Amino acid sequence: MNGPKGPNTRLAHLGNRPHDFHGFVNPPVVRASTVLFPDAETLTSRRQKYTYGTQGTPTTDALADAVNELEGSAGTIFVPSGLAAVTVPLLAFLSAGDHLLIVDSVYGPTRRFANAMLARFGVEVDYYDAALGAGIAGLLKPNTKVVFTESPGSNTFELQDIDAVAAAAHEAGAIVMMDNTWATPLYFRPLDHGVDISIHAATKYPAGHSDILFGMVSANAACWPRLKDAQTNLGTCVSSDEAYQVLRGLRTMGVRLDRHRDSALAIASWLESLPQVDCVLHPGLPSHPQHALFRRDFAGASGIFSFVLKSGGAAEAAAFLNALEIFGLGFSWGGYESLAVPVNLDDRTIRRPYAGPVIRLQIGLEDVADLRADLEKGFRALS
Ligand SMILES: Cc1ncc(COP(=O)(O)O)c(C=O)c1O
Repeated sequence: MNGPKGPNTRLAHLGNRPHDFHGFVNPPVVRASTVLFPDAETLTSRRQKYTYGTQGTPTTDALADAVNELEGSAGTIFVPSGLAAVTVPLLAFLSAGDHLLIVDSVYGPTRRFANAMLARFGVEVDYYDAALGAGIAGLLKPNTKVVFTESPGSNTFELQDIDAVAAAAHEAGAIVMMDNTWATPLYFRPLDHGVDISIHAATKYPAGHSDILFGMVSANAACWPRLKDAQTNLGTCVSSDEAYQVLRGLRTMGVRLDRHRDSALAIASWLESLPQVDCVLHPGLPSHPQHALFRRDFAGASGIFSFVLKSGGAAEAAAFLNALEIFGLGFSWGGYESLAVPVNLDDRTIRRPYAGPVIRLQIGLEDVADLRADLEKGFRALS
């Protein structure tokens, strides 16, 4: 496409080449293991575009083209879940004796993988405070190979100065990976801020309907060959059916995300005004400690944030959650329906005291007035 286009125009057309497929608007869902070669010489040299189902199909390529354009990346691999999108690049770039730095507010299962498996393979793992910024330089060691970031952090939504973290990591010879699931490439483009590997649980906003598990990992030109090799060696691939569903989801992601953004901000501001609420952890609110960083780096906020009750503990959180009727109680986010979960911060290395229980909300596409009325039921259950 010529010239810069708006995000929704791009999402409507990225990856589609109708005239390669008899004019049909969408690419075909090509289900494949075996790919045939015309003769023995082509088979031996593998000199043709598609060689085996694990290496991609026209359907996964259509999605990869779209994602590379959104991320500004040299290549993207697809894996069976968002968690695999975390574990595969870590396995690709770490070896025994290497040191890994992970932000302390990271998605819990990322920490579990690092502590349980990478440590067993001889990788040294440390956690850093999201607020460090350029101060991360003091934690980098000669054997630090990867800095793993997530901004905002899972559940407590701390932001990081990614440009400063990336500059310090590169100076020390480490690469930077970022779980960018919260913002999607529409609201933050990690590679533009010095990140080498951008990670997404496409299970969330790209798929958007709570019916697909899918991970995407996009790399800059320097890291792409090693990432691609790791996927080939590990055999982690996806079906074209699921790649197709994610591509379908991308077409509407921009409008969905804007709606999630507006509704979540409206509910977050309202929560902030309530006497039962101590604080709201949402980077888009002026009260967020790193709101200036949010304004500097992000084009928008997505629909998931947390709030802290003024007092109480697990029993109060349960009473609040049990009173909800529209908000479902369940994990994950990014779908069209609203969800609520109690947040457990017991695994954090750096402890921050909160006045009361922390509750995470995923604001879906329902009407804000109905969601507010539902949350009011939760607050009534507290009194
Ligand atoms: C920030 C973040 N990264 C990765 C994942 C993992 O995604 P999946 O559920 O597809 O494994 C999640 C899931 O909640 C997440 O919140």
